[in-house]
Amino acid sequence: MSFGRITAAAHYAPEQVVTNEALTKIMDTSDEWIRSRTGIQQRHISVNENTSDLATKVAQNLLAQTQLNPESIDFVIIATISSDSSMPSTASLVQANIGAVNAFAFDITAACSGFVYALSLADKLMTSGGYKKGIVIGAEVLSKVVDWSDRSTSVLFGDGAGGVLLEASHNGPMFLAEGLKSDGSRAKSLTSSLTTPNSPFSNAEQADELYLKMDGRAIFDFAVRDVPKNILATLEKSGISPEGIDYFLLHQANSRILDKMARKIKVDRHKFLENMQEYGNTSAASIPILLSEAVASGTIKLDGSQKVVLTGFGGGLTWGTLVVKI
Ligand code: ACO
Repeated sequence: MSFGRITAAAHYAPEQVVTNEALTKIMDTSDEWIRSRTGIQQRHISVNENTSDLATKVAQNLLAQTQLNPESIDFVIIATISSDSSMPSTASLVQANIGAVNAFAFDITAACSGFVYALSLADKLMTSGGYKKGIVIGAEVLSKVVDWSDRSTSVLFGDGAGGVLLEASHNGPMFLAEGLKSDGSRAKSLTSSLTTPNSPFSNAEQADELYLKMDGRAIFDFAVRDVPKNILATLEKSGISPEGIDYFLLHQANSRILDKMARKIKVDRHKFLENMQEYGNTSAASIPILLSEAVASGTIKLDGSQKVVLTGFGGGLTWGTLVVKI
């Protein structure tokens, strides 16, 4: 039987860096407010690159690192809430850009849990036996969907992309346990790109809302109440204790959320890797960017010797954990 194995990781962020200080020039905010409540110090913001451009850079880097022929790629999955368009998918554009002529390609939308959901799905494709190589990317240009007149949300988000190459392996499973969750009854806490029926035949009241809206308090409470329970339950399924985990790679929304989670899970806070200081919240891209940086620095080795937890949480509401022998 074959299993999915992450064999390479890569990330890319637009060159333009916007510091908290720079934001004070365009809105009524302060470095102190943003830093003390979120940990965020800067974010990368796209000047003219779209989501598919960022994701293409990641995919090209994965191919360059592994010297793989793009024709050997079986699938491209992109997790995003800021696709270039709803049709074609961002994944279709990336598939063409990298010349992965034999791959099927599609996007998935699960907000900040998107990469975790996509990776779980990709592993199932591998274990089904039919596919040998797949690219899974989280990519966002959130600066397109953020309401720049709303200081309570616009300071939180950034643009970027990260991803992995998954290859079929016979060396036992890499993905040891998973717990994927959704609760659509709380959907209104975090929304963007809302559209209403609009045709000569409809009488719906027009209530389109392109921009991202968030009930910050509700999301904070959700993150610190539901997510640690999910991590602990998934760890229990895996038979590994929290202390047995080398690193926790959680969605990078807010440093205070990570503080509370570490306390609830009762593990050393230093095991929670962090980079929201540099990137802000990049939704589906945050976990793969973090993973790629950890691989580049040698913190994560990709040799099967470490155990990590990958956890996403966000709009939907969605949340989910993968316990991975990496
Ligand atoms: N600069 C200065 N003041 C601001 C800003 C800003 N950028 N934004 C809001 N404020 C003001 C508000 O107007 C309000 O002022 P008022 O009290 O005079 O009305 C005040 O700050 C609110 O401050 P707090 O109540 O201290 O805000 P809070 O501690 O709730 O922090 C935050 C807000 C950071 C959004 C918090 O609720 C949070 O972290 N929520 C989690 C949400 C999150 O991270 N979402 C990311 C997307 S979802 C995801 O990725 C899971």
